[in-house]
Amino acid sequence: MKKEEKENVPNIMEKIISLCKRRGFVYPGSEIYGGLANTYDYGPLGTELKNNIKKAWWKYFIQNRDDMVGIDGGILLNPKIWEASGHVENFKDALIECKKCHKRFRPDKLGDTAKCPECGGEFTPAKTFSGMFKTIIGPVEEEGLVAYLRPETAQTIFADYKNVLSSTNMKIPFGIGQIGKAFRNEITTGQFIFRTLEFEQMEIEYFINPVSDWNKIFEDWVNYMHNFMDVIGLNRKKMYNHEIPDTERAFYSKRTIDMEYQFPFGQEELWAIAYRTDYDLSRHQKYSGESMEYFDEKENKKYIPHVIEPTFGVDRTFLAIMSEAYNEERLENGETRIVVKFNSRVAPYKAAVFPLVSNREELVSKAREIYGGLKKNFNVFWDDRGNIGKRYRYQDEIGTPYCVTVDYDTLKDGTVTVRDRDTMKQERAEISDLTDWMKNNLEK
Ligand code: GAP
Repeated sequence: MKKEEKENVPNIMEKIISLCKRRGFVYPGSEIYGGLANTYDYGPLGTELKNNIKKAWWKYFIQNRDDMVGIDGGILLNPKIWEASGHVENFKDALIECKKCHKRFRPDKLGDTAKCPECGGEFTPAKTFSGMFKTIIGPVEEEGLVAYLRPETAQTIFADYKNVLSSTNMKIPFGIGQIGKAFRNEITTGQFIFRTLEFEQMEIEYFINPVSDWNKIFEDWVNYMHNFMDVIGLNRKKMYNHEIPDTERAFYSKRTIDMEYQFPFGQEELWAIAYRTDYDLSRHQKYSGESMEYFDEKENKKYIPHVIEPTFGVDRTFLAIMSEAYNEERLENGETRIVVKFNSRVAPYKAAVFPLVSNREELVSKAREIYGGLKKNFNVFWDDRGNIGKRYRYQDEIGTPYCVTVDYDTLKDGTVTVRDRDTMKQERAEISDLTDWMKNNLEK
């Protein structure tokens, strides 16, 4: 990142955070009670965007492939699962605290500095703490069962692997995908929704024959994951594959690539892929006493499959899309236009429909009719507030690709004005062609 770009970073992040709140994408969590650090709520537009990301992911990674199925497992699992997975023992971080300002840090994220980066104070000695949230199952705390909110969705997939095998016709190689919440007691938080306590993951466990060429399958998945950037409108040039060295990999992985994206605040992990070998299934076999072996009919032999795991954070994907789509453009009249150039597949609304003015009944009823027609196929916004210029600005800020305006000519010739968000160009379109026009112009 160039120096002048770096200096702009807080500015850009502040602008994105402000837009997210102003327009209903993301709100600070529990705000009326002063908030709860590092928790956020998604507002009406944020929920649409997030759902569109998840829908695109599900279609691309599950439905478009014959070797994939999806599940929706629980957040609370038998606590033995976390012993078997190694999380109880290993999912821990060291924590140091500044003696002066009491800010907490993970020493591994601080680099070489021996002083607090916030105030220059001295640190306390490092303490270890678990990244998992504990909870109690049962009405009486002392007698209840200690359970954990899952820190990764992956383990639900391993726990259901046998049921999926026996209830479907899946044959190795095949994968199970899942979208769902995960919880981590993070020490170093911040950067808006980048690192939070509660977040959503989209994960795949891809089961392979242990003797297959795992590196080739791994590389194929890396490419397939990068191709997903085109599907949701992210620039591939902003992604960097960071090969994690042996000493830094998670305890279960034989090869890991962190896919790091150029966020406005720097290059950070967006997605990742790991070769988890047979670590998880072998451990579950040992701890549960249930066989995790797969009978390979083609090879007429049994084995515990190995696993390749592509993993994605929904919230980080949301932030990447938001920061890439956010644009400020200087107009000829000297004004600045804020325009959020979402790919139309993920845009919360696909079009907005307006009557030119709101006090002419013929215009309003014609516009309502068009709005109702489009709504059968697309998520469409109705607006008859203020003047047309203000409505365009609003739609630009929420990333709506097209605005359809009903004017006096509409009543004469059955055409409307369609305005393109990115070029601001306007063209006339026949009302009868509008649905097909939208279908042809929107990403599918
Ligand atoms: N099952 C493997 C696993 O959980 P991870 O790299 O720890 O791997 C996967 O997490 C993805 O989940 C990350 O690439 C990131 O997108 C997202 N993620 C992890 N921790 C997060 C947090 N505290 N807040 C938001 N997203 C997070």
